Amino acid sequence: MSSELPAGVERRVVDGRERLATRGEPVYGEPTDGEWRAWNPARSKLGAMLELGMETAFEGGERVLYLGAASGTTVSHVADFAGPTYAVEFAPRPARDLLSVAASRPRLFPLLKDARRPETYAHVVEAGVDAIVQDVATRGQARVALENRRFLADDGRLLLAVKARSEDVAREPAAVFEEITDELAAEYALLERRRLEPYHADHLAVVAEPR
Ligand SMILES: C[S@@+](CC[C@H](N)C(=O)[O-])C[C@H]1O[C@@H](n2cnc3c(N)ncnc32)[C@H](O)[C@@H]1O
Repeated sequence: MSSELPAGVERRVVDGRERLATRGEPVYGEPTDGEWRAWNPARSKLGAMLELGMETAFEGGERVLYLGAASGTTVSHVADFAGPTYAVEFAPRPARDLLSVAASRPRLFPLLKDARRPETYAHVVEAGVDAIVQDVATRGQARVALENRRFLADDGRLLLAVKARSEDVAREPAAVFEEITDELAAEYALLERRRLEPYHADHLAVVAEPR
């Protein structure tokens, strides 16, 4: 595992500017260059983590559990460079779009499931995934990470984006982030944390490994 970009993610000149890019069918109107599609860090917390040089430990080809896939903006890039990618989303409308995103990506498996109820997809998701990517932007973000710990290999990584306002609109984001990282410590050792400005306001990104 390394802090380099994973195989299958490159910095390429797309539409006149160097950008992160993966190879796959375009999904959200992103500019393309041949088979490469730009990965917009302002539309993707994981994209911002890579753009900011965080050590995601992705090398390419990993088994991934992605929580909060929405209509597939970020998970489509993940499935472009990773191995089997299980994409959990509980809202039916974005999950429908996710199905079309998966049509050209044989390694992407959309699951219309609630990430707070991992027992409902435990029969589908193989145990020992190499990475959990979480971006649920809802109250109880630490709990979701704790409850899905069971799927993560002992040497795997949690790549978590925490949105402060989803926990409490009124509280100072720094206080929310402290509370969440304290809660995570029950199951995870934190390796890196940083805020995602200028790409995403009031978001904390965390890289952690299981204890
Ligand atoms: C910020 S959006 C995700 C954006 C997406 N990760 C991306 O970068 O393309 C958060 C998504 O998480 C979903 N979500 C929130 N709580 C969830 C839960 N408990 N189970 C599954 N999905 C959930 C929401 O429906 C929403 O689509």
